Amino acid sequence: MSKTIGILTSGGDCAGLNAVMRAVVFRADSLGWKVIGIGNGTAGLLEDPLRVKVLSPADFDGFVMRRGGTILGTTNSRNPFRYTMKDGTVKDRSGEVIEALQSLGIEALIGIGGDGSFDILSRLAKQGGIHMVGVPKTIDNDLSMTDLSVGFDTAVMVATEALDRLQPTAASHDRVMILEVMGRDAGHIALSAGIAGGADVILIPEISYSIEKIAEKILRVKADGRNFALIVVSEAVKSPEGEKREVVYYGGEKRYGGIGDYLGPEIARATGFETRVTVLGHVQRGGNPTHNDRVLAQALGVKAVDLIREGDFGKMVAWQNMQAVSVPIEDAIRVCRTVALDSTLVHTARSLGISFGDS
Ligand code: F6P
Repeated sequence: MSKTIGILTSGGDCAGLNAVMRAVVFRADSLGWKVIGIGNGTAGLLEDPLRVKVLSPADFDGFVMRRGGTILGTTNSRNPFRYTMKDGTVKDRSGEVIEALQSLGIEALIGIGGDGSFDILSRLAKQGGIHMVGVPKTIDNDLSMTDLSVGFDTAVMVATEALDRLQPTAASHDRVMILEVMGRDAGHIALSAGIAGGADVILIPEISYSIEKIAEKILRVKADGRNFALIVVSEAVKSPEGEKREVVYYGGEKRYGGIGDYLGPEIARATGFETRVTVLGHVQRGGNPTHNDRVLAQALGVKAVDLIREGDFGKMVAWQNMQAVSVPIEDAIRVCRTVALDSTLVHTARSLGISFGDS
């Protein structure tokens, strides 16, 4: 039976979003369904005219799947339940979003998002009786119930490449290079990139550290005859006194940033090494998705349409043991999946002699 489904991207972008959309559109087309793309997350449904576009396989020429970003646009700051109007007042516009979805005849909605977006979309689904399926994306890889989220692999690849580029210049100048990577509240990017990129020290928010222990490791590296060292630090790492390092943007909005610059002089003082800091930032979110992200994105995109076909709503598609499965959305967002201290990767790093700054 023919269906009309909607699709939107919500929250921070990452590489692989267009590949998810491509798979959804191709799979839906094979079933004879219509796909309506919604621009800028739910914010596109609050515009007049609505920011929507019918998506067909022809929109996905050979290039789109390879492109970072999202052809639909996204937002991580326009929550329809607390929407800031032009005059500064805050209004609940969730009813308008639901009405718009109904006016478009959308029978099921695919939301490609992270925890914040899924929270909003599930509330909308409950309130408006909307059938919804989620596809996990976040470079932070901190959604529960899925081994991987779209965008993580590309972010790790970018961070690893940064370490590959920092190593020769570190060696040329006898320096300690500190690379600050993203990861709001979880250290997955730092941990994987640190292992892949041969870091000497990995600092993640899950493990407390001291400058003394970092210095001990760097001085051991030096005593063993190496003239440089590489440190990866996750943006969410606090100072040893437990202070968050944040940048306050115009309007008072806070974002992580600054732990690398804090550590640079501290480590220089404690080791006598010259230090330099690189903050990788949004470079980790852009660029072409890796083949792993493209495969994951398309497997999850196809699965999302399959769930709609089966009438299995309120679910997030997830990647577990090399299979696309479905899990209740609330289970995926209940807790932020941080790095488990007894995980294989923590054990691997320690066994390779990488220090977490704690011993
Ligand atoms: O959650 C994804 C993420 O990229 C985090 O790693 C980072 O802290 C944050 O988003 C940055 O958000 P924004 O794009 O609003 O600066």
